[in-house]
Amino acid sequence: MKVFDSIKDLQQYLADAKWENKTIGLVPTMGALHKGHESLVRRSAKENDECVVSVFVNPTQFNDKNDLITYPRTVEKDCELLEAAGCTVAFIPSEKEMYPKPDTRVFKLGAVAEVMEGPRRPGHFNGVAQIVSKLFDIVKPDNAYFGEKDFQQIAVIRQMVKLLNLPVNIVACPIVRESDGLALSSRNTRLTEEQRKKAPVIAQTLRESVTFAAHKSVKEVIDYVINTINSVPDMEVEYYEIVDGYSMQPIQHWSETAYPVGCITVYCGKVRLIDNIAYGK
Ligand code: PAJ
Repeated sequence: MKVFDSIKDLQQYLADAKWENKTIGLVPTMGALHKGHESLVRRSAKENDECVVSVFVNPTQFNDKNDLITYPRTVEKDCELLEAAGCTVAFIPSEKEMYPKPDTRVFKLGAVAEVMEGPRRPGHFNGVAQIVSKLFDIVKPDNAYFGEKDFQQIAVIRQMVKLLNLPVNIVACPIVRESDGLALSSRNTRLTEEQRKKAPVIAQTLRESVTFAAHKSVKEVIDYVINTINSVPDMEVEYYEIVDGYSMQPIQHWSETAYPVGCITVYCGKVRLIDNIAYGK
C-alpha cells in the first residue's frame, strides 16, 4: 500500500495508473476506521484496479467545534486496517494541503439538503460537498463508495455530482451493524458501558416497526418509533422521518413513494447516533 500526504505525489502516481487504463475506486473517510468503513474498502478493492482511500478529518463540515477537536484520530491503526482490506493507496493529507486558503464555495444543493440533518447541522452538507468535490477533482475516480449509514449524505453527494456534471459513479453500500443491531460508528466509542447496552434499541425498534408497517399509517409508525425509544432513560429522539429514499422529502402516506426510508437521529446521553431503515412497501 502506498501512502501519500501530498496531492502532487498522489496525482503523479494516479496519472501512471490512468495511462495503463486502470480503473480507480475512491473511499472518502475521516479515519477512526471500523468494519463499516472496511466493507466499503473491500468492495472498492474488488471492483477497481486501484483502491484509493482518503483519511481526512474535514474541518469545514463540523458545525460543532468541540466535536472536531474530540473526533477520534487513530492513523496507525487505520493504515493497518486499510492494508489488510486491499487498499492500494492511502491519501492522508494535512489541513494545509487540502485547504491552503479557506474554501468559500457555496453549493446550491437544493431540497435534499434542506431537511433532517440539513437545518440541524448548518453548513455541514456544504462542507461535505467542499471536501468530496475536492477529492473527486484530485483523484478523478471511476467509482466512489459511500455507506447508507449516512443516508442523506449519499443523496447530497449525488446532487453535487449532478450539479458539477462529474464523471463518477456513486456506489451506495449497506449499513454494517454489530450483532445486536447497533450501526457501527466512530462515535460509538464515546458511549459509556451503560449507554452502549441501551443503544441497540434504536435498530431493534426500527426493525420491529417494519414488521407491522403494512397495517399502519405513516404517522402511527413514526409515533411508535419515537415513543418506544424515548421511553428508554437517557435516550431522546431528535427526529424520526419517513422520506422518499430518492428526494429525501418526508411522506405522509405510503402511496407517495415506492422507496420509503425511515431516518432517525437519537441522543444517547450526549452522543448523537444516526440510523435508517427501508420499508419494503
Ligand atoms: P466517515 O464518517 O468517516 O464515513 C466514511 C464512510 O463510511 C461514509 O460513506 C459512511 O457512510 C461510511 N460508514 C460509516 N459507518 C458505516 C457503517 N456502519 N456501515 C456502512 N458504512 C459506514 O462520512 C464521512 O466520513 C465524511 O462525511 C466524508 C464523506 C468522508 C467527507 O468528509
